[in-house]
Amino acid sequence: MNDLGGKVALVTGAARGIGRAVAEVFVREGAAVMIADLPGSDGAATAAALSRAGGQTAFVAADVTQDADGMVAATVERFGRLDILVNNAGVFYPADALTTPFERWLQAVDVIYYGAFHCSRAAASVMVAQGQGGRIVNISSVNAFLGAAQSSHYNTAKGAVDQLTRCLAVEWAPHGILVNSVAPGFVETPMAIVDGVNEHETPDFQEFYVRRRRIPLARPAQPAEIAEVVGFLASPRCTYITGQSIVVDGGLSITF
Ligand SMILES: NC(=O)c1ccc[n+]([C@@H]2O[C@H](COP(=O)([O-])OP(=O)(O)OC[C@H]3O[C@@H](n4cnc5c(N)ncnc54)[C@H](O)[C@@H]3O)[C@@H](O)[C@H]2O)c1
Repeated sequence: MNDLGGKVALVTGAARGIGRAVAEVFVREGAAVMIADLPGSDGAATAAALSRAGGQTAFVAADVTQDADGMVAATVERFGRLDILVNNAGVFYPADALTTPFERWLQAVDVIYYGAFHCSRAAASVMVAQGQGGRIVNISSVNAFLGAAQSSHYNTAKGAVDQLTRCLAVEWAPHGILVNSVAPGFVETPMAIVDGVNEHETPDFQEFYVRRRRIPLARPAQPAEIAEVVGFLASPRCTYITGQSIVVDGGLSITF
């Protein structure tokens, strides 16, 4: 298929993991893709690899908490327009609600929630001016609607992203901009590696989530399995879904 031929996409946090998989799907579907990620990330190498594979890609070194306008401007300057934004950049670190200094606690909220807001606003102002609609896809999480210890920063930020999704979907519907989110469960990315250990390979994870099938499909997702859903929501084939959070978790959140 060539669903995204002629479209221009900006994907934040696309140097690796889910963001990179999204960029790969977009390239396969014919879009030009701006990969935005932090200075010092693998973004340039990722863009080069996708270009070698035949994609039209470029890299902008930018922090979603500070450079939202700059990354959107770089995309328009390089590819001439902007049709799709994927707010994917995110961080996780355990944060005890009683003892974590507030500034540290806020860092995850700043990247996940405020970053998504700043990038959405910068992108939508271009989409509105173009007058041809657009697609915004936020990468949320099942954490948006589940509780977990050491996660009040991350989970509330993801919950806010889903609420932002609904509000912007209503506000920007008159402009033909569809806003949705994708909520993964466990995904096999570098984010799963904590202190050098892949948490999906620990005996506890294997026993509880895999052998006892707390995840009914009994495995974490591959990044491509999330990216395919993003690819649909970003495409012109998606015409009547907006303000929704699509859960892609192998059934994790329907079990108890
Ligand atoms: N891996 C999972 O199990 C999982 C599950 C649910 C949701 N998610 C979400 O999916 C998204 C992607 O996660 P991933 O698993 O691919 O993680 P990852 O750590 O592999 O990739 C995240 C990328 O975001 C970039 N990034 C971080 N802060 C940034 C900033 N301020 N500005 C620009 N880029 C920044 C990082 O450099 C990195 O390249 C995140 O929003 C994450 O919360 C992941």
